[in-house]
Amino acid sequence: MADSGRDRCKTGIAGLDSILNGGIPRGNTILITGSCGTGKTTLSLEFLVHGALMGERSMYISVTEAPEKLVDNMITYDFFDKKLINEKKLILVDLQEIYVKLGLEKLEFTLEDVNILVSQIVKIVKELGIKRLVIDSITSICYRLTSKEEIREFILHLGKELSDLGCTTILISELLHSSEGYSQYGVEEAIADGIIFMGNLERRGDLLRTIQVIKMRGTTHSRAKYVLDLTPIGVLLAPLLKGGSSEVT
Ligand SMILES: Nc1ncnc2c1ncn2[C@@H]1O[C@H](COP(=O)(O)OP(=O)(O)OP(=O)(O)O)[C@@H](O)[C@H]1O
Ligand SMILES: [Mg+2]
Repeated sequence: MADSGRDRCKTGIAGLDSILNGGIPRGNTILITGSCGTGKTTLSLEFLVHGALMGERSMYISVTEAPEKLVDNMITYDFFDKKLINEKKLILVDLQEIYVKLGLEKLEFTLEDVNILVSQIVKIVKELGIKRLVIDSITSICYRLTSKEEIREFILHLGKELSDLGCTTILISELLHSSEGYSQYGVEEAIADGIIFMGNLERRGDLLRTIQVIKMRGTTHSRAKYVLDLTPIGVLLAPLLKGGSSEVT
């Protein structure tokens, strides 16, 4: 499938770039969604590290986990290089610190608070020349938004501003076992330019990780489900061989 036109942001994960005909269309804001332990953080970090190595400054905004803990977890992967952090090619930001700076240490955000937060993230991306951004997770931010309209405004506004800056963005969405669709509130999946769904598949007593591109504006892509392996060298994809399985998420 030849796919010309849109410039691509190569994820650096060979199997995924092949599914996407070269990578995520540059400037897209996409959702990586799945239940716990499916590999969302690892895949997103590999995307950022690959960008940083290619000279695209990358930023990870952590909402739920302290960045120091993330580094400790990632150091076990061969693809991760702490030097990228020291050289400021990969920047880790703790959202709690931004909340404190903006006076947003509250449980519920108004629409005005949402706009203040978006402006601050966009300002950082602009000032530092960030080309790849991951927010882990968007669900944790949405907890503080009080209506679907606020969630819609947050993602639309953020996505538009980042796209204008040529920044390709991954929003990580946490799915509960009971959730229907691909996001906690249903709004996120409709607005995002793309959805990559990561799940679990029980097969002969083993719990496999799976990955599937549900949608990706700006490119043709396979919608087949692949097996995802988290290996010391990073994320690997393999075709899912049919038969003898039951899906759990
Ligand atoms: N060095 C490693 N090599 C292979 N697999 C690993 C390694 N380190 C951790 N893992 C596996 O990766 C899993 C965690 O992956 P990851 O944190 O990317 O998932 P996640 O979807 O972000 O999870 P959560 O919902 O908890 O944030 C662990 O449960 C473990 O099985
Ligand atoms: Mg995670």
